[in-house]
Amino acid sequence: MRKIFLATAALLALVSCTEKFDDLTARVMDVARQQCILMDERLADNVMPKTFKDGINEDSPLKWWCSGFFPGTLWEVYQATGDEEILAIAAKQTLKLSGICHEDTHHDIGFQVNSSFGNAYRATGDPCWLPVIDSAATKLAGRFIPAAGIIQSWKSSKKWDCPVIIDNMMNLELLEYASKLFDKPQLDAIACSHADVTMKNHFRDDYTTWHVLAYDRSNGDVIKKQTHQGYSDDSAWSRGQAWALYGYTMMYRETGHERYLAQAENVADMLLPRLPGDGIPYWDFDAPKIPKELRDASAGAIMASAFVELSTLTKDKAKSKAYRKMALRQIRTLSGKEYLAAPGENGCFILKHSVGSIPGNSEVDVPLSYADYYYLEAINRFNTLED
Ligand code: GLY
Repeated sequence: MRKIFLATAALLALVSCTEKFDDLTARVMDVARQQCILMDERLADNVMPKTFKDGINEDSPLKWWCSGFFPGTLWEVYQATGDEEILAIAAKQTLKLSGICHEDTHHDIGFQVNSSFGNAYRATGDPCWLPVIDSAATKLAGRFIPAAGIIQSWKSSKKWDCPVIIDNMMNLELLEYASKLFDKPQLDAIACSHADVTMKNHFRDDYTTWHVLAYDRSNGDVIKKQTHQGYSDDSAWSRGQAWALYGYTMMYRETGHERYLAQAENVADMLLPRLPGDGIPYWDFDAPKIPKELRDASAGAIMASAFVELSTLTKDKAKSKAYRKMALRQIRTLSGKEYLAAPGENGCFILKHSVGSIPGNSEVDVPLSYADYYYLEAINRFNTLED
C-alpha cells in the first residue's frame, strides 16, 4: 500500500514538474479569474479584501496598505486573458481607490497606487488613470526628510520617531514611474536617495536586512535597528528579504545604476542557498523550529517575481539561469494543491498559506491579497522570457 502511495506521489510530482508553462498559466489564470469574479460579487464598495480565516472573509478600509492588490490582481488576470468582464471589474475596483491619493499618513500609498492605477495605465494607456498617479507620487515625495535622505515609513511613535522599514523600497516604483510620466526628475532623486541610504544602513554584512530602522530626522543617524514582524531584531524576516530583492531589482530596471543591480544580486545570492527545496521560505529564515515553522507564500511569490526580472537584468549567465530556475520552482510549488485554492474555496483568494505577522498574532497561515498579486505577476513575467 505504502509503495503504491509513494509511486502515485512521485508520478504527481513528475506531472507537476513537466506541465508546460502555457498549461500552468491557463490553469492558474482560470482559477484566478473565477476567484476574482466571486470576490468582486461579495465585496462592498467601501472595502477591499484583506484575508480569510475560520470560514470568514475579513475586509479592509480603502486606506489600508493592501487596498491596491485586489485591483492589481485583476489587472494581472486581464493581462493574461484579455477577458473583457475582468477588464470592467478591474476598472471598477481601481476607481474605488480614487480618494487614497490624498492619504499622507504612511508610505504605503506607493504600493496602493502603483498596483492599481499604475497597472491600469500600463494595461490601457488611457490618460484617465494619470491624475491619481501624479497626486499620489507628490504625496509620497512629501514624506521625504532631506536631512536624513529617506522617506519616513510610518507615523512617529514613542518607540520610533522616524521609522523606515525595508518594505519602503517597494514604494519607490511609484516615484520612478511618475518621474518619467510627468517629467519630474526630483522624484527620481528622492527615490535614489532613499535607495542609497537604505543600502548603506539597512543591510548586514551577509546581505540580510533588518526590518525597521529608526533614524534621527535631523541628521540621518541610525538610532535603532529592530524588527516588527520578524522573529527577532537580528533575524532575517522572509518578506523583508523579498522586498529587498524586488526593490533593488526594480530600482536597477528604472535607473540603470549598476550599484542597484549589484545589491539585488547580493541579496539573491544570499537567498538561493537558504531557501528550502521547494523554494517557499519559512516565515523567517531564523525562526527557531524550522522545519516545523510556517511557510510564507507571500514571500515566495514576491521573490519569484523578482527572480524572474533579475534573471533578465543580470549580465552573469550562470546567475541568470539560477534565478530563473528558482523562480520556476517557486511558481510550480505555489501552483500545486498545497498552495493554490480550488475555485469557490479560500474566501475567493487564490493562494493559501501566507503569514502577515506572527509576533502580532495577526494573519497567520491565511490567504493575503499581495501573495495573489505577486504570484500572478511572476507568472506573467515568466511568460515574457525568451526560451
Ligand atoms: N509591508 C508590510 C508587510 O510586508 O507586511
